[in-house]
Amino acid sequence: MCAKILAIANQKGGVGKTTTSVNLGCALSRLDKKVLLLDLDPHACATLHARIYPEEVQYSLHDLFLAPEENWSTLWPLLLRTQALHGMDVAPGCIRLSELEVDFKDRSGKGSVLSRSLRAVSSDYDFIILDCPPHVGILLVNALVAADLLIIPIQTDFLALHGLKLLFDTLHTLNKALGRPILYRALPTMYDRRAKACTRVLELMQRKMEHAMFNTIIGIDTNFREASAQGCSIYDINQNSRGARCYEALAQEVLCLW
Ligand SMILES: Nc1ncnc2c1ncn2[C@@H]1O[C@H](COP(=O)(O)OP(=O)(O)OP(=O)(O)O)[C@@H](O)[C@H]1O
Ligand SMILES: [Mg+2]
Repeated sequence: MCAKILAIANQKGGVGKTTTSVNLGCALSRLDKKVLLLDLDPHACATLHARIYPEEVQYSLHDLFLAPEENWSTLWPLLLRTQALHGMDVAPGCIRLSELEVDFKDRSGKGSVLSRSLRAVSSDYDFIILDCPPHVGILLVNALVAADLLIIPIQTDFLALHGLKLLFDTLHTLNKALGRPILYRALPTMYDRRAKACTRVLELMQRKMEHAMFNTIIGIDTNFREASAQGCSIYDINQNSRGARCYEALAQEVLCLW
């Protein structure tokens, strides 16, 4: 069996991509699923959540992207950090990922490098989670080409839907190139039920996205910021918190998709 690959993407910054990657991954891992988290963001925040620091990263996903195809199976074991975060394996990112656009200038098949290289490890996992950077570029294209499901965290805040068109344009272009539609679901995040503005944005999202939206709504919970600050998941801070429960519900919904 091959892993299901979940890309967590939205080119808007700070909407909960890394929080979703880390905590959905942990929630799946707590359900005894074997999970691999890939940090595709040059800022490497997911890597930091696993307390893997830049100075100790000898091999990162950047090395995998640059390596010739015949070296991929040797490189995976070198860069994988086993059970680095709440039972999940982690493949660290690094700042050099920001140079990939230039590195890949003359590379053929550059949009499918990740998809092809993941074949070497796919059968070891139930889920592979891709934490994407907050912009549209070669890393996002690689993530979308590899993905079985795109999860789009959308902050239930003013201008939440603003700028999403760019992501959907990329999605439609890839759908045409791949000859299959990439499945996607929007995920409302940072929802504050006491704020009327949040409720209005949520209603707007529900109208616009219709069925392409999870039923789970990720509420605001200060434990997430605490987890980010400490470099861990919300399950390491308080496994009974509201935020922890939200990602458990999301994990259940994800499991029902297949
Ligand atoms: N549901 C939530 N409630 C409260 N705080 C949250 C929630 N989700 C995320 N946060 C906090 O918001 C900040 C941004 O979240 P996160 O890093 O997940 O966003 P991102 O989309 O990955 O950002 P970037 O685009 O920079 O990669 C973090 O400090 C995180 O702890
Ligand atoms: Mg992030």
